[in-house]
Amino acid sequence: MLFFIAGARPNFMKVAPLIKCVRACAASGGHDGPALEYRLVHTGQHYDAQMSGTFFDELGIPAPDFNLEVGSGSHAVQTAAIMTRFEAVCLNERPDWVVVVGDVNSSLACALVAAKLGIKVAHVEAGLRSFDRTMPEEINRIVTDALADLLLTPSADANANLRREGVPEAKIRLVGNIMIDSLVEHLDQARARGTLSALGLQPRSFVYATLHRPANVDERETLTGIMDQLMSLARRMPVVFPVHPRTRRRLCEFGIPFENTAALKILDPVGYHDSLCLTEQARFVLTDSGGLQEESTFFRTPCLTLRPNTERPVTIQLGSNRLTSLPSLEADIDRVLSGEPRTGTVPPLWDGHAAPRVLDALLAA
Ligand code: UD1
Repeated sequence: MLFFIAGARPNFMKVAPLIKCVRACAASGGHDGPALEYRLVHTGQHYDAQMSGTFFDELGIPAPDFNLEVGSGSHAVQTAAIMTRFEAVCLNERPDWVVVVGDVNSSLACALVAAKLGIKVAHVEAGLRSFDRTMPEEINRIVTDALADLLLTPSADANANLRREGVPEAKIRLVGNIMIDSLVEHLDQARARGTLSALGLQPRSFVYATLHRPANVDERETLTGIMDQLMSLARRMPVVFPVHPRTRRRLCEFGIPFENTAALKILDPVGYHDSLCLTEQARFVLTDSGGLQEESTFFRTPCLTLRPNTERPVTIQLGSNRLTSLPSLEADIDRVLSGEPRTGTVPPLWDGHAAPRVLDALLAA
């Protein structure tokens, strides 16, 4: 039996294609039954309708078999709560594999529990490294990869990182980018949503901005500087800024004014289809999200990543991404606006067929 773990927003579009693929394979009799049984475990790290429920609906993910309902907390509190509750489920169900995706606290917590119970761990999106241990996700990546029995990578740089860390070659499989599976499948539905007209926007003439990393939003001075930049950018072209709950909390706490205007559209978090639409049609994306760096690369929409590093270097080397910082943001925006509206190429194996490669690797392992 396979356990698929989903906890936070960026997990849902990675788990959806896996579930679909396992179901299709089981239905076609493509493999003997029991190995293709699965259970979906939602840790409850994200729980708001806008951060979780909407994504289940849009992506057609079945209701979780187990919901650990851990909610928010400090890293230790959240990780410990997931571990305690997940251990009980594992002891009852005894899965053969625990499949974790990405780099959130839920992935680390479930991998750690499984490894200690002698249950095999597969990590989808293994091998990514920012080489910046001030990011909680970097710790999660390193520990999860150290524990995993099967490391499924999205790009060749990830294989190189794992090799350098001494992971045996036999544990590593380059499967491509699972997130792009969801993108490809949902593109028609996303395009049909009319997101732009609902917001009064024209294609290629607005900026799609998202920011939620602690390094950008958890300090008053940085967040104030970012909001000033967004307001001045909005004087040049409309900016769509759906606000993550962490960011909203900080804006309120710091007393930074944020008002929804025609030029700076401050919204609640948007769903998956709206986000795909905005990414495809934006003049450029301004973000600190890992997922948006990848999705904008797929669409060849220029992306400015407000971070000093990225664990997804292929989005810079081949794709449309470049790193920026608060002091260089204005100049980088000028450069993007004077450049081509579409740039870069789509990395190999970001082709919408990563899920079958994951399943093949699991069944062969
Ligand atoms: C988490 C992930 C991050 C990912 C991001 C995507 C970790 C360490 N971080 O960060 O890698 O990029 O999700 O969104 O796992 N909150 C709500 N409703 C929710 C969820 C959270 O209001 O449904 C608020 C709470 O105030 C919470 C805060 O957002 O304290 C942060 O949530 P948390 O899951 O701790 O981290 P994220 O910043 O969302």
